[in-house]
Amino acid sequence: MSNATKSFRNPRAAHGFKGRTCSIAAVGSYLPERVVTNADLEKIVETSDEWITSRTGIKERRMAAAHEMTSDLGAKAALRAMEKAGVTPDQIDLIIVATITPDMPFPATACLVQEKIGARRAAAFDLEAACSGFIYALEVGQQFIMSHTYNTVLVIGAEKLTSIIDWQDRNTCVLFGDGAGAAILQHRPDAHGLLTACMGADGSKCQLIAMPGGGSANPASVNTVHSRMHYLKMDGKETFKNAVTAMNTAAKEALRRCELTISQIKCVIPHQANQRIVDAVGDRLGVTPEQVFVNLHKYGNTSAASVVIALDEAVTEGRIQRGDLVLLVAFGAGLTWGAAIIEW
Ligand code: ACO
Repeated sequence: MSNATKSFRNPRAAHGFKGRTCSIAAVGSYLPERVVTNADLEKIVETSDEWITSRTGIKERRMAAAHEMTSDLGAKAALRAMEKAGVTPDQIDLIIVATITPDMPFPATACLVQEKIGARRAAAFDLEAACSGFIYALEVGQQFIMSHTYNTVLVIGAEKLTSIIDWQDRNTCVLFGDGAGAAILQHRPDAHGLLTACMGADGSKCQLIAMPGGGSANPASVNTVHSRMHYLKMDGKETFKNAVTAMNTAAKEALRRCELTISQIKCVIPHQANQRIVDAVGDRLGVTPEQVFVNLHKYGNTSAASVVIALDEAVTEGRIQRGDLVLLVAFGAGLTWGAAIIEW
């Protein structure tokens, strides 16, 4: 470990916890090949590279091919994480896919990933917490490791957001991209692993980000299609304000539980929605720019995939070494939010 002082409280152990700890054995990610630049979007809607860059920090995003589904992106990320962890398909006990863009309403995308990676022994289900999805799935997955129920859990954040973007709405179509990341969870006797995860939600603000059509509220019909209800809708300004407050509060609560100060954290991995949100949360937490990992300029907002793609890149770039303390923090539709602290 580098600048982190190795003194913290493990909240689980402090509560007389009798189970096992849970570590991330490896992470992997997959981004589709096609790059869509801000200049490309200037040809579709009335926008400019200058507006998108100054308001969001995004320069380009990836777009999956027509035949590529969320399960394809998730399976590719999973195979990369499995290879790094030295895990074979038959070792996987459970697959959790966090997504708001499943291949179809049912069956679960996790079942489709199970088939694609050949993990025939694994149980599989989806979890939906929008951009907070990876942190929620991490916390759920680790419960199965800590309780000795399973030895190896595959947690995936995967999205094909370009399939629900309204390409006529400049307020939203410039923000999102496709991609997937995966983490292999296991018990490692030499590591504390995931120290804490704080999750929260506020359903009273469910209207701020939603795709209103296609569910039991507005079943798919000619009318829902004409009303463009099968696309993502967002009140950007209100979402922005709520994101900054919730991410700051969740991160501080996670630090408090572990009796850590922000200076002990080697790397902060925020949800990659908007550089201005990352900066505002960073200011409130008192981080230095060197502590924060950002890749949103390359991929835009990939919702449930964003934190785990960034985690994979931070590890690959050597920004995180074994033993370092890492803070993950995210916010999304629901509203939902979450923060997790990992001893890597
Ligand atoms: N190009 C040019 N102009 C634009 C564009 C565009 N792409 N989009 C909006 N504008 C215009 C608006 O029409 C508005 O013009 P007006 O004043 O004439 O009405 C003006 O720019 C300003 O719009 P604002 O909404 O005030 O812009 P703001 O600075 O708030 O930035 C943004 C908008 C980028 C969406 C920001 O609010 C944001 O990032 N919000 C949070 C998004 C987020 O975090 N989402 C996370 C969850 S997503 C999920 O869970 C799936």
